[in-house]
Amino acid sequence: MTLAQRTAAPAAPASSVSEALRSRRSVRAFRPTPVPRELVEELLALASRSASNSNTQPWRVHVVTGDAKRRLAEDLWEALDAGHRHPQPGYTYQPAPEAWVEPFRSRRAAFGDQLYRQCLGVEHDDAEGRDCHHRRNYEFFGAPVGMILTVSAHPLDGALVDAGQFLQGLMLAAREAGLDTCAQASFIDFHRVLRRHLDIGDDQIVVCGVALGYADHEHPLDEVVTPREAVSAFATFHGDGGS
Ligand SMILES: Cc1cc2nc3c(=O)[nH]c(=O)nc-3n(C[C@H](O)[C@H](O)[C@H](O)COP(=O)(O)O)c2cc1C
Repeated sequence: MTLAQRTAAPAAPASSVSEALRSRRSVRAFRPTPVPRELVEELLALASRSASNSNTQPWRVHVVTGDAKRRLAEDLWEALDAGHRHPQPGYTYQPAPEAWVEPFRSRRAAFGDQLYRQCLGVEHDDAEGRDCHHRRNYEFFGAPVGMILTVSAHPLDGALVDAGQFLQGLMLAAREAGLDTCAQASFIDFHRVLRRHLDIGDDQIVVCGVALGYADHEHPLDEVVTPREAVSAFATFHGDGGS
């Protein structure tokens, strides 16, 4: 068994980087147990050690809890029901469903099947069932802490790469504290609601949301563990392969 295949017990805090990498997964069911503000600040401080273009640190984070989180969710649901989606100019996280190409189309379909049909028992043509789960994104899947990650719109492309580093740092630091996360692009199309609630200016681009909390291991969604391609499928060695 390779280092990557050995999965750490999900409930246990990670005590090494490799354990944090192996045990990190997107958690979509949380216990209501609060996460102290000092701990959230510590995780953000750790994530801010991430590399960025010339140390520009282009990220910003809005942390929402309690009433602020509830009010935000209510407005997001209202916008969702009204179909008020507004893509952000310059940042499209993903193509329209019909525009996906292989091999990503198949991987995306396999993931959708794993999440909806195998885990939740929601069939592909059950629009209501899928919608019911999708809505939970906007309450951060019940996590006590929600975050909205933004980056400077100028210059955007490099800042998005830097934001990815920050996101990964945050997720791994969370694992060391026994916490779990889920990155959420679902928020992006509702950036106008986010801007209004969180006072996010036009000089910022909403990258994604992040749910943070303690995983509910009793929930059926806790079963979702996604596969990965073998290293030989994505890495090409040139020269002597490092030996
Ligand atoms: C930037 C980003 C945005 C994502 N957005 C969502 C989302 O809106 N809702 C969701 O349930 N999962 C979301 N995910 C989680 C992915 O579906 C997940 O990372 C992928 O299926 C691999 O599974 P794993 O994270 O459990 O390893 C997102 C992940 C990333 C990196």
